[in-house]
Amino acid sequence: MADFSHKPTLTGDLVVLRPVTEADVPALLPLFEDPEVIRLTGGHTRFDEAALLEWYGSRGAQDDRLDLAVVERATGRVVGEAVLTAWDPDNESCAFRIAFVPDAVGRGLGTEATRLIVGHGFEALGLYRIWLEVYAFNPRARRAYEKAGFRAEGVLRGALLWEGERVDATVMSVLAPEWGSVQAG
Ligand SMILES: CC(C)(COP(=O)(O)OP(=O)(O)OC[C@H]1O[C@@H](n2cnc3c(N)ncnc32)[C@H](O)[C@@H]1OP(=O)(O)O)[C@@H](O)C(=O)NCCC(=O)NCCS
Repeated sequence: MADFSHKPTLTGDLVVLRPVTEADVPALLPLFEDPEVIRLTGGHTRFDEAALLEWYGSRGAQDDRLDLAVVERATGRVVGEAVLTAWDPDNESCAFRIAFVPDAVGRGLGTEATRLIVGHGFEALGLYRIWLEVYAFNPRARRAYEKAGFRAEGVLRGALLWEGERVDATVMSVLAPEWGSVQAG
């Protein structure tokens, strides 16, 4: 059975992923306030700072999910979060999501952070399937996920209603048996 109570630190060349805490809220605020990040993540719900402090302050105590802050090694700055959630123990699967603050995107950090947490999901947590949803208007995220080994498996038509427009979501996944060959390239 996967043990989500252990919160790891995962080190790559560009980023370190470590347990998120309430002290990260100021750095993560743009995820909840920047209109473009909110659109790309389909965020219909608004959170005030008190709610965010409560949320991030309680992630370390969760035993059914993994919430990691993404720290850029070059600067030591918290640039976003990477999360395994929606754990389904019977089917050994989790959903993955990730979001960075606007000025951290497009420099390869997301691909590396995705590889690190997905690798942990397979290698340490013993998951079989890790899946995500990405909106049709977010080709940058889709490309990062593909580089990290995710494959598109279907389209949820009109899944998001955003400012009057219906937007498709693509479901992508990576499976444990694929992971070794994905990483070997
Ligand atoms: C999604 C996210 C984590 C990806 O991380 P990132 O660091 O920006 O991604 P990377 O730099 O590792 O890779 C992006 C890739 O997309 C490519 N790309 C950028 N814009 C693109 C576009 N408009 N169309 C196609 N590809 C694009 C880049 O060239 C790069 O691919 P390459 O290395 O082959 O050139 C980050 O962009 C982010 O947090 N964005 C805001 C929130 C968000 O979209 N969250 C995901 C919701 S599903």
